[in-house]
Amino acid sequence: MTPVLQVSGLRKSYGEGETAVHALRGVSLTVEPGEYVAIMGASGSGKSTMLNILGCLDAPTAGSYRLDGFAVGSLNERQLCLLRNRKIGFVFQSFNLLGRTTALSNVELPLIYAGLRKRTRRARAMAALETVGLADRAGHRPNELSGGQQQRVAVARALVTAPALLLADEPTGNLDHASTAEVLAVFDRLHAQGKTIVVITHEDEVAAHAGRVVRFSDGRIVGDDRLVPA
Ligand SMILES: Nc1ncnc2c1ncn2[C@@H]1O[C@H](COP(=O)(O)OP(=O)(O)OP(=O)(O)O)[C@@H](O)[C@H]1O
Ligand SMILES: [Mg+2]
Repeated sequence: MTPVLQVSGLRKSYGEGETAVHALRGVSLTVEPGEYVAIMGASGSGKSTMLNILGCLDAPTAGSYRLDGFAVGSLNERQLCLLRNRKIGFVFQSFNLLGRTTALSNVELPLIYAGLRKRTRRARAMAALETVGLADRAGHRPNELSGGQQQRVAVARALVTAPALLLADEPTGNLDHASTAEVLAVFDRLHAQGKTIVVITHEDEVAAHAGRVVRFSDGRIVGDDRLVPA
């Protein structure tokens, strides 16, 4: 099977010369379809830099990246947008929902970019909200939802295009214990359905749900352990 993602010799530097920050110093990683991977490591070790490159939100300084078999570095801007829209769902720590519009409209947004008709968009967005258990909140705005509910709307938005890969940068970092459990339950269900998930976390509780833990230190991978299911 084609790996969902395959990076090799990835480097990322910010700035140049003496003051350059080397955020990634040669990272290689392969993730197979259906894997649930947690990325851990100290603050500043390069986790978000890595995830942003995996999500095609940023380009590496050197190295190669294949996403579902496609060589990302060789694509033009338009092809990259299409690939990102089709293959990747991204969840941020701070939800990044549009505040003035409903949960349903937020979830619909990626489908507007994908060029789908309104009726199809509504139906798919509603189905995605059902997946995260929020069909009954479709008409609520973000400020009428709890943190955990807002993050589940963000997860629904990430899923609505049926991407091969779900990337999440500290998705439970702003959530209390109960809301964390809600979001983790959604991820567990998606994993059980075969979705590939890569999640950055500082919490052992979150990592315990993943089957594999990749550890970063100072821009390098220093550990890669597959966990035996309890
Ligand atoms: N846009 C940028 N310009 C310059 N330096 C940056 C930029 N983004 C990140 N860095 C630096 O790159 C290094 C890695 O940052 P990164 O955000 O990947 O860390 P992280 O592992 O996600 O940390 P945290 O756990 O705090 O989120 C840090 O030293 C950071 O200061
Ligand atoms: Mg980070």
